[in-house]
Amino acid sequence: MLRLLSRSTTRGIVRVSQCTPTTMTRPPPGKMFSRQALLPRLPVPALDQTLDKYLKSVRPLLTDEEFNNTKQIVQEFSKNPGPKLQTLLEQRASQEENWLSEWWMKIAYLEFRSPVTVNVSPGIVFPRQSYRDKEGQIRFASMLIAGILDFKLMTDNQTLPVDHMGKNPLCMTQYYKILSACRTPGKKCDSWTCYPPNEPNAPKHIVVAHNNQFFAFDVYGSDGQPLSEAQIYRQLKNLVQDSEQVSPPVGILTTENRSTWAKAYTELAKDKENSISLDKIKHSICLICLDNKLPQDMSDERSVAARQMLHGGGSRLNSGNRWFDKTLQFVVGRDGICGLTYEHTSAEGPPVVMLLDHVVKYCSENKSSGSDSPSPVSPTKLRFNLSPNIQDMIATAGTQLDVLVDDVDLNVFVFQDYGKNFPKSQKMSPDSFLQNAIQLAYYRIHKEPAPHYETGTLRMFHLGRTDTIRTCSEASLEFCKAFDDGNIPKERKVELLRKAVQAHKGYTNEVIQGKGIDRHLLGLKLAAIKNGMNVPDLHMDMAYTLSTHFRMSTSQVPAHSDSVLVFGPVVPDGYGVCYNPQESQVHFGVSAFNITPETNSKNYIDMLRKTLLEMRDLFEGSLNSKL
Ligand code: COA
Repeated sequence: MLRLLSRSTTRGIVRVSQCTPTTMTRPPPGKMFSRQALLPRLPVPALDQTLDKYLKSVRPLLTDEEFNNTKQIVQEFSKNPGPKLQTLLEQRASQEENWLSEWWMKIAYLEFRSPVTVNVSPGIVFPRQSYRDKEGQIRFASMLIAGILDFKLMTDNQTLPVDHMGKNPLCMTQYYKILSACRTPGKKCDSWTCYPPNEPNAPKHIVVAHNNQFFAFDVYGSDGQPLSEAQIYRQLKNLVQDSEQVSPPVGILTTENRSTWAKAYTELAKDKENSISLDKIKHSICLICLDNKLPQDMSDERSVAARQMLHGGGSRLNSGNRWFDKTLQFVVGRDGICGLTYEHTSAEGPPVVMLLDHVVKYCSENKSSGSDSPSPVSPTKLRFNLSPNIQDMIATAGTQLDVLVDDVDLNVFVFQDYGKNFPKSQKMSPDSFLQNAIQLAYYRIHKEPAPHYETGTLRMFHLGRTDTIRTCSEASLEFCKAFDDGNIPKERKVELLRKAVQAHKGYTNEVIQGKGIDRHLLGLKLAAIKNGMNVPDLHMDMAYTLSTHFRMSTSQVPAHSDSVLVFGPVVPDGYGVCYNPQESQVHFGVSAFNITPETNSKNYIDMLRKTLLEMRDLFEGSLNSKL
């Protein structure tokens, strides 16, 4: 998913403790990391190529006059200061293992001041479970915890197979950063901590949240083996009985603006007992949130579930039963609604989805997790002493969150008429086909093209994260303009669609080979700032601002299970669209903000559904030789 750069920011210094990106650069040998040393370093693309691609990408968004002005600015940049900045960036690339990764972690995440809830952290909805009561909830949570520990074993022992894209191995370090990790708020910049496995201080406990109370639960026996599912069940049952009273929602502070939360954190941590509790949460493997029942009206329950995963429903529902700083929080509702939310600093969706697919499969197979481990320890309640000032801060955080929750317009749907199979049958890339459908649906509603972000992975490179696939192109715009024009024959529309799909696929291939433009342009800007130079005119130009104001923020996150990832839009007048394309159906999650009446997720979904059907209809009766 995109982390917004158009809400542009000036940011401070990263403090990453314990497991920094740097300490992760030499992972220990093991199957999981067997290809790591062979991964290439992220290149710095050639300057002239980036500038050329940049001009092409802004062309469909600008008038002739605006474009000529931007062309002039780009030409000047190519003479000065472009080459100097390029040299500085190449110098950095020769010294760092990945010239981008540390900058990216700071710029995109740790220095970003808005609440992580909705703005940064995605949610993922699992397939609905069949239980409907407390007993079923505890049983499912026990199985889920056993499944997480089963997956953890594979990362601890490094037996997880290496991910590939085609024949190319991918960087595996993100798998080490999703469990036992946490973000901590800072005044100007947050820090991020991860406790790698096999280190003396590696955590052995999870934290369970119930009725806004938090419990540290050691999930390993004295022999170092995971507790059996039956043991986990017994401990959870006691824990739930001991926490029937709803506590003040201290966790809601984690939904605040980061600098406000940092102030509250400092005050909270002055109390010794609070400090121990904060540390226990930070130092845990993950959170398990045992949520309360939702109000009866469960029409469109998948969309209700999606909102629970994204923000917890607000202060009156389950948002206080979260700790949004924690990298992984699994949510187990009382009514069979389950999923997770993850804090995005350390990883993209695919490693998280790999974990969730493992856990969903583990739970569906209803495996028993083996024999009991010796000397299980009862969970301990994490106590918080709340000063009147902190109580006020909690109340304010709840009010702020409710405003945010009310503003989020989020719905999910499954498109069941076809999946990857149809574009494949027409010899087109499914992702590029879907991306053009997403752009076209926007165009049909808003009558103009959208600056359009899609996440492209850089994991073919050591410590690689993401770059932007700019979906909106001259070819996509030509297709959009032609689509509803009754004077243009179907065959011509198919031809234009094919061109648009090829343009997108070509751009995608460039991005995943490290030749994207957005991170390069960002690097050039940062090289200027770090070396005391002015921000270049190119970055101050309206074309740059406009083309990075991503009204469409999109991401493909495929899963084997019928799960769907959701995230918020990255601009107030935009949409967030995430999709899980399967062979014969596609799960979509679509978000918008109510503050902008022109954007509405249900309208968009209706248009996307209609567009996907009509795009298929284009091919009916058209000549096979042309397909
Ligand atoms: N004809 C027939 N089949 C084709 C085809 C064509 N012209 N082009 C592609 N295909 C097939 C592929 O072989 C592949 O087959 P598979 O289903 O058997 O694996 C399938 O279609 C999918 O390929 P495609 O749709 O082109 O997409 P992709 O899988 O290469 O993914 C991206 C494209 C951009 C999503 C991917 O490169 C990427 O970067 N993913 C990371 C996204 C991410 O990090 N998201 C998380 C954000 S939090």
